[in-house]
Amino acid sequence: MTPAHRTILDRMRSSADVVRRTVKAAPPGRFTRPPREGEWSALETLTHLRDVVVHVYGLRIRRLLYEEAPLLADFDEEGYRRASLARGETTGDLLDTIVAEHEQLVRLLQTLPDAEWSRQGRHPSLGVMSIEFLARRVGEHAEEHAAQIAAAVTPRPCEAMSGRSRAMPTIEQEYIETRPKSRALYERAVRNMPSGVAHDGRVFSPFPFYIERADSARKWDVDGHIYLDCWSGHGALILGHNHPAIVAAITEQAKRGLHYSACHELEVRWAELIRSCVPGAEKVRFTMTGTETTALAVRVARVATGRSKVVKFEGHFHGVHDGLVAAVKDPFEIPMSAGVPKATLASTLVARHNDLALVTELLSDPEVAAVILEPAGGRSMTVPTNPAFLRALRELTRERGVVLIFDEVVTGLRMAPGGAQEYFGVTADLTCLAKAVAGGLPGAALVGRTDLMDTIAFAGDPKRDRTHRVADQGTYSAAPIVAAAGVAALEILKAGEVQRELNRKGDRLRAGMNQVLKTRGILGVVYGASSIFRIHLGADAHALGLEDWTFDAARLDRGMGPLGAKLHLAMLLNGVDYNRGSANGWLNAAMTDADIDQMVDAFDRSLDRLRRENTLP
Ligand SMILES: Cc1ncc(COP(=O)(O)O)c(C=O)c1O
Repeated sequence: MTPAHRTILDRMRSSADVVRRTVKAAPPGRFTRPPREGEWSALETLTHLRDVVVHVYGLRIRRLLYEEAPLLADFDEEGYRRASLARGETTGDLLDTIVAEHEQLVRLLQTLPDAEWSRQGRHPSLGVMSIEFLARRVGEHAEEHAAQIAAAVTPRPCEAMSGRSRAMPTIEQEYIETRPKSRALYERAVRNMPSGVAHDGRVFSPFPFYIERADSARKWDVDGHIYLDCWSGHGALILGHNHPAIVAAITEQAKRGLHYSACHELEVRWAELIRSCVPGAEKVRFTMTGTETTALAVRVARVATGRSKVVKFEGHFHGVHDGLVAAVKDPFEIPMSAGVPKATLASTLVARHNDLALVTELLSDPEVAAVILEPAGGRSMTVPTNPAFLRALRELTRERGVVLIFDEVVTGLRMAPGGAQEYFGVTADLTCLAKAVAGGLPGAALVGRTDLMDTIAFAGDPKRDRTHRVADQGTYSAAPIVAAAGVAALEILKAGEVQRELNRKGDRLRAGMNQVLKTRGILGVVYGASSIFRIHLGADAHALGLEDWTFDAARLDRGMGPLGAKLHLAMLLNGVDYNRGSANGWLNAAMTDADIDQMVDAFDRSLDRLRRENTLP
């Protein structure tokens, strides 16, 4: 059995457990009580789950197994239906039927030869579906419904106070009341960690939710809520959580050693794979983080040109090292961090998107070594880049002998195997890769032209090597455990099929969410490209200047203001997480079309909830 099929069966098993635990955890009497307006009761959801697992997934998988070329003994369809329904309709009966069906399907599929998993049949309304697809949906569907049951049986705050149903709580009240364990953890965290978190982007009001485990496209919090994870490991988990090939590679490598303090074959293979995917990657230097990589790129550019200044763009983020914290967030005059000497910031010149005249003027300073930018747009496309401007920038830097650095920490390997460079057809001199390049582990790489990269190389001339070489060393650079994950990820990503599918799903998501805005008559837009989306409520694409690239980067950077946090809370209540601070998210390859549709539906419900609270502009 392939690791992918094993994962599907494991999930089928564990999802039955999730349903069982959720049902057992329901407070007495809550299962059958009337639903909230416009929603299903827990009993209705459980009945629906039973019907779907038996009559859609179970039945269709069996038909595919037994029809045409029977793989197993004859299938008595009528008997199967009767037996499945004979159990009755009480909560316990329904649960037993669901669990038994999951177990039976696992038993059936365990014996199925790998080649047969792709058998397909056409469902009258759902289209062509393979055994593999159906089997995967069994686990996903059960988990989705377990989350809905958990929500239906959770007492609302005002109900808890009075013992009977009252008005709907606010979004924030519901968030607080349904996450007691997260709240308790946060109370411990603030006593030990600044703001109670490990990353500025995870600061959260009223308190963050704490995750217990993650798998595939989802993560589970300590209070039993399930979220579709559109933060995807800050963009690093392009293949989703626990991809079997990556888990296998890491597990195998862990047995052979985490760190050799020596060279090893995996780093060579990893470098070869990167070079085969990324345009202009003539040489590769491994690092650990995006921050470290953009810092190294700037240093390489300085040594190669003998100049000191760097041009960066308003609203573009390159990590948290001194020089590049300038002009990241509105107001752009103030660096994103305190503690950076003015003298350091003086060597960073700030350009504006789409303003070629200003860049040309800045490049007239003979001290400029490099121009650095996020090629597809600042802060993960919050401030998008006009491809024509990108091409003009390429020409201009080439003419002036200035090093063009693309920060592809987010877009590398994501938009295409060759990242934004392949997507836009523009090749940089140096490219910074992180996140997806290391398959979700802390790994990164600087790649680019040999003459530039060789500023890091030892030439054998002691004087040159001591005075004109870029020194670079990191304890964890290409550590075998990281390289193992990187190689496993790139072996999958190099073909480009994953990215093509993700880009299609990104289009589907943006179109679906924009349709929701239109249908509800709400001013707003969901924009982005490839598998990245950004939500803005309060102005449409035209008013924001997104259609003709005339936007104001500061306005885009400010986003929705406090409404953004409220929308995020509402989306969490509807089972979707994304990057709260910038209201953007990254899709991952574990997400199905049904997941995309679930996100669109969650957006619809969240807007409805915001409207009821009179918080929409
Ligand atoms: C475009 C970009 N560059 C650099 C970084 C910094 O990477 P790291 O967090 O690995 O230091 C990030 C992080 O999100 C990023 O989005």
